[in-house]
Amino acid sequence: MKLADNKATLSFSNGSPSIDLPVYQGSVGPDVVDIRKLYAQTGMFTYDPGFMSTASCQSAITYIDGDKGELLYRGYPIEQLATQCDFMETCHLLLYGNLPDASAKAKFTSRVTHHTMVNEQMQFFLRGFRRDAHPMAILTGLVGALSAFYHDSTDISNPEHRDISAIRLIAKMPTLVAMAYKYSAGQPYMYPKNHLSYAGNFLHMMFATPCEDYVVNPVIEHALDRIFVLHADHEQNASTSTVRLCGSSGTNPFAAIAAGVACLWGPAHGGANEACLTMLEDIQKMGGIAKVGHFMEQVKDKNSGVKLMGFGHRVYKNYDPRAKLMQETCKEVLAALGLENDPLFKLAMALEKIALEDDYFVSRKLYPNVDFYSGIVQRAIGIPVSLFTAIFALARTVGWIAQLNEMIGDPEYKIGRPRQLFTGSVERDVLPISQR
Ligand code: CMC
Repeated sequence: MKLADNKATLSFSNGSPSIDLPVYQGSVGPDVVDIRKLYAQTGMFTYDPGFMSTASCQSAITYIDGDKGELLYRGYPIEQLATQCDFMETCHLLLYGNLPDASAKAKFTSRVTHHTMVNEQMQFFLRGFRRDAHPMAILTGLVGALSAFYHDSTDISNPEHRDISAIRLIAKMPTLVAMAYKYSAGQPYMYPKNHLSYAGNFLHMMFATPCEDYVVNPVIEHALDRIFVLHADHEQNASTSTVRLCGSSGTNPFAAIAAGVACLWGPAHGGANEACLTMLEDIQKMGGIAKVGHFMEQVKDKNSGVKLMGFGHRVYKNYDPRAKLMQETCKEVLAALGLENDPLFKLAMALEKIALEDDYFVSRKLYPNVDFYSGIVQRAIGIPVSLFTAIFALARTVGWIAQLNEMIGDPEYKIGRPRQLFTGSVERDVLPISQR
């Protein structure tokens, strides 16, 4: 970390001596005030629930400028990666810091391809779930269970273990998601096929049956690959921070990633794509575009508890660049499938137009996020709504593991242990039960 020329001085109105705090500069973005010695020097903590102003780590992976609406993976704009690179190149970039040349890409892709099968025992574990279990409940269990199968790679202090775990997780995630789907559909699991691309293989495992091969449609394959690229990483979001915090205790990588899956499930995070599509379907049932105005009134009424899902972001105070790319993909997929007049897409466009002109959204800088259009694309591809967040988890796995491995390799890494402002009872004595 690079020390800035200036320092921060913290002074107190009660006459306590002021203290100087070091300031560090990143390569771009806000400087940070180093408060690590604050407690030792003053006996005080800082208070920042929700991490509104707290950098929890240093990282060289992903950078977001929320005001500009800019997203960079290892310095490369997401628009260039989404249009010029595929998901395997993006994974290589996130994990190792550089875009692979043709031979490195072939080697990396081959490594991933040759780890896509899961232990045959995994299907017996899966059978313990009810058929109607939510795919994210299943995925949390299956990913955690991987740690019981790969005893040879659970030492996170060993860089080789970390690398092989990364490859295994990226490779096996599509297999596990497709297995969760097949199980809910009551169909046999389909084994991966090595001649297919990463996205093509996932489509095969989802939609082929032993009676009929699935012929991969290149437009759908490309769209799915783009969904993976757009969701691959997003710096210190809730699930990534969960993975880091979980992994900071030294637990094995599969357990840490399972924690990330669990966190992603919530509707304020990865669950928003499912919630967004459900919202669009509900408005459609209520009367469609004609009811948009009524729905918006509910959204603006703080007592209604209704939110415009797929809108708003903690970091982006401008159009989420991923939403623009996703909208483009949405148009391509709908056109390729002859669904140009898809009523949900039209409804989404109408909602977006109204929101972007409405003072409620404008004044709060609420713009569409990646989830606003991703559900429509996935639904058109034939992916059931309940599986949307699992697809997000599949794509985000590379980001989680890259961030976890970066943390373990950071000489300043410590177990995460937040402090608190205690507001409960001061010390008191237990009374005999008859006097309570
Ligand atoms: N609909 C209506 N009002 C909203 C929305 C929304 N989608 N999002 C934020 N607001 C309002 C919020 O009520 C608050 O109003 P006020 O200042 O009057 O109290 C103001 O905008 C600021 O919002 P916040 O909730 O304080 O902001 P936050 O940073 O804590 O929350 C968020 C960010 C993403 C959780 C929130 O915008 C949200 O719940 N959006 C809907 C869910 C969603 O689409 N999530 C996906 C995020 S992108 C994918 C991912 O990274 O997982």
